[in-house]
Amino acid sequence: MTSHLLLFGLLFATCSLALASDPGPLQDFCVADNTSKVLVNGFVCKDPNVVTAGDFLFKGLDRMGNTSNPFGSIVTQVFVQQLPGLNTLGISMARIDFAPWGLNAPHTHPRATEILTVIEGSLEVGFVTSNPANRLITTTLVKGDVFVFPVGLIHFQQNVGNGYAVAIAALSSQNPGAITIAKAVFGSNPDISADILAKAFQVDVKTVYEIQSKF
Ligand SMILES: *[C@@H]1O[C@H](CO)[C@@H](O)[C@H](O)[C@H]1NC(C)=O
Ligand SMILES: *[C@@H]1O[C@H](CO)[C@@H](O)[C@H](O)[C@H]1NC(C)=O
Repeated sequence: MTSHLLLFGLLFATCSLALASDPGPLQDFCVADNTSKVLVNGFVCKDPNVVTAGDFLFKGLDRMGNTSNPFGSIVTQVFVQQLPGLNTLGISMARIDFAPWGLNAPHTHPRATEILTVIEGSLEVGFVTSNPANRLITTTLVKGDVFVFPVGLIHFQQNVGNGYAVAIAALSSQNPGAITIAKAVFGSNPDISADILAKAFQVDVKTVYEIQSKF
């Protein structure tokens, strides 16, 4: 009896691991119908008989993004919002452009593991683990290198060269989400109270106001 319970527990643990990404589809495809008002986990499907090749096509990932912003980087998303054919398929893509020394600031994708390859330039990348707590795993990538950022972990990429850098990423969700740590914590709407942030970051309230003013 106990061994059965143990086996069941083990099976359950294994299953939950296997389900740690978007749920699998129950049909060939379910092209997102973004005109529907129905709320589901994903989007309502278009009638498959009226689906066309265009529903599965995104054009323009060869185009460089505009990196003229304080961080010197820009992400061009090819998520379900841009490519309706991705609905229910548990996968998506992005292009990341970096100006010289540009930074894709520390952020997390709550719903996706990310696998990234460098097309041009050289990137310093890293992520921080939860167990063991707060260990930084970091390295420098050159053109052709592939690196993986495990689901949910805080990660970043910085161009460590004087030229432009380009990376292409694939993500294990049609809608990975992106939470940029600095913006989420210091630029939320409405603000998290300065007292709370002062205590959390062990600084004075003036310092918190100063950081909040940047976001
Ligand atoms: C719906 O998707 C199409 C592409 O299929 C896009 O052109 C349009 O802007 C989208 N509309 C909304 C409200 O997201
Ligand atoms: C890039 O973005 C900056 C800042 O928003 C803007 O001033 C500039 O015109 C843009 N450049 C191009 C080529 O779109």
